[in-house]
Amino acid sequence: MWRPPERIRWKSDAGRWPTADQAAASRLFAALDAGPMRLAARTWVPAMVPWRATEDGAVTPEVLAWYERFARGRPAALVVEATGIRDVPSGPLLRIGHDRFIPGLAELVKRVRAASGGETRLLIQLIDFLAIRRRPPPETFFRRYLAITDRHRKALGVATDDEARERLLALDDNALETVLDARELESLRTGYRERVTDTHLPHVRDLPKVLPELFGRAARRAETAGFDGVELHFAHAYTMASFLSALNDRSDGFGGSRAERARLPLQAYDVVRSMISNRFAVGCRFLAEDCIEGGSTVDDAAYYAERFAAAGMDFLSLSRGGKFEDAKQPAIGEAAYPYTGPSGYECMPQFISDTRGPFGRNLEPAARIRAAVRAAGFATPIVVSGGIHGFAQAEAVLTDGQADIVGFARQALADPDWFRKVRLGRGSEIRVCEYTNYCEALDQKHAQVTCKLWDRQSLDEPGLLKSKDGKRRLVAPAWEP
Ligand SMILES: Cc1cc2nc3c(=O)[nH]c(=O)nc-3n(C[C@H](O)[C@H](O)[C@H](O)COP(=O)(O)O)c2cc1C
Ligand code: SF4
Repeated sequence: MWRPPERIRWKSDAGRWPTADQAAASRLFAALDAGPMRLAARTWVPAMVPWRATEDGAVTPEVLAWYERFARGRPAALVVEATGIRDVPSGPLLRIGHDRFIPGLAELVKRVRAASGGETRLLIQLIDFLAIRRRPPPETFFRRYLAITDRHRKALGVATDDEARERLLALDDNALETVLDARELESLRTGYRERVTDTHLPHVRDLPKVLPELFGRAARRAETAGFDGVELHFAHAYTMASFLSALNDRSDGFGGSRAERARLPLQAYDVVRSMISNRFAVGCRFLAEDCIEGGSTVDDAAYYAERFAAAGMDFLSLSRGGKFEDAKQPAIGEAAYPYTGPSGYECMPQFISDTRGPFGRNLEPAARIRAAVRAAGFATPIVVSGGIHGFAQAEAVLTDGQADIVGFARQALADPDWFRKVRLGRGSEIRVCEYTNYCEALDQKHAQVTCKLWDRQSLDEPGLLKSKDGKRRLVAPAWEP
């Protein structure tokens, strides 16, 4: 993972924990409505992919145990990981692209309801993404993948494709730069990656025709399965975030100006709304800032937030960064990963940081975005996350008006009982996240995600679900007051 060059080492500091009475009187533990969804508190566990689904995207006993464990800690809202809306193979990523996924997801809902005593509201994050391939060995790229054109033959002074391929294989990096265009070089150096601006590809050109319906059907399945709502994934490196990005210069009315970039996400939202009941919450997660050169800024995000609020979204959850554009070059045989560059750092900041540190890097932009939404006359709740682990820190986010709901992703992974412990006045028993990103490194390898603070504890517990190599427990140890 990329880290700021300053390499300043920060230590988590949760500060003073409240007594049970102080917690009960706090804003953090006061109820809030997000559209039709009543939250018992302003606590939220954002989506985290734990890589526990089957290769066919189905719910497994490990998926159930993972969400059940979060639910025992009773956060007010829990968002199920990014879940694919298409019926296509996607590796061990959860899927909701067909009705056959409904029973597994319904079981997940049931387990969360039971484990939280019905207190935790459960949402599911709906994602679409474009194709990405592994970085090929140069021989494979030149012999099989590269489409040879007149441009190549001319630059190389050869007559046939075979000659061109052999010549290219013999060229060094500098010479290749004079023969290949930027996309070909990218495909060679990091692997082929589709973009929303590849409108010469029919399936990319047609995204505006197919995506709203795909999101709508997925949302309807989520409601049938019993979820309280959906979070449309408009953040990070995926399709909808790429439509919103300032880098989107499609000329078909779905790119260019801010209004055009927001058009498809808004259309998808409208179709989702038309396919679910008014008891079901719909919001989205998007970026407060792209954090890449030429990407969307906080002003763009404030505009999107106003439009999403005006359209009637029930909540807006803000993340930041997490883009492919600045990702690290992968090894041959591996695919690029959007959380490996500076924008990835902004998304999941680690304890080795710069002078700003890893705690609350998204708060200032969130405050600006929230102020814009309020100034436009909308009360839509804003969710923020990024390095939040202490009670006083979370309470200040709310009292300072930076956001309305506080997201705890890695802190909830480190200790799913954060919420219960704080409410009971037992904050001193919390396992505080150290922001090492051990969990994120596992995510990057698509390995089952666990936390280093608990995954080697009590491995001989009867019936314990363990990682494939048997060396790590898959759920946090139980806690009872
Ligand atoms: C293992 C892991 C998986 C994640 N998966 C998702 C995801 O599926 N969707 C999403 O929007 N964010 C995902 N994130 C980002 C988190 O939701 C959150 O925005 C980020 O970790 C920063 O918040 P935190 O500092 O509270 O952890 C993931 C983070 C981690 C550590
Ligand atoms: S492994 Fe645990 S302590 Fe380290 S960042 Fe992840 S959740 Fe926090």
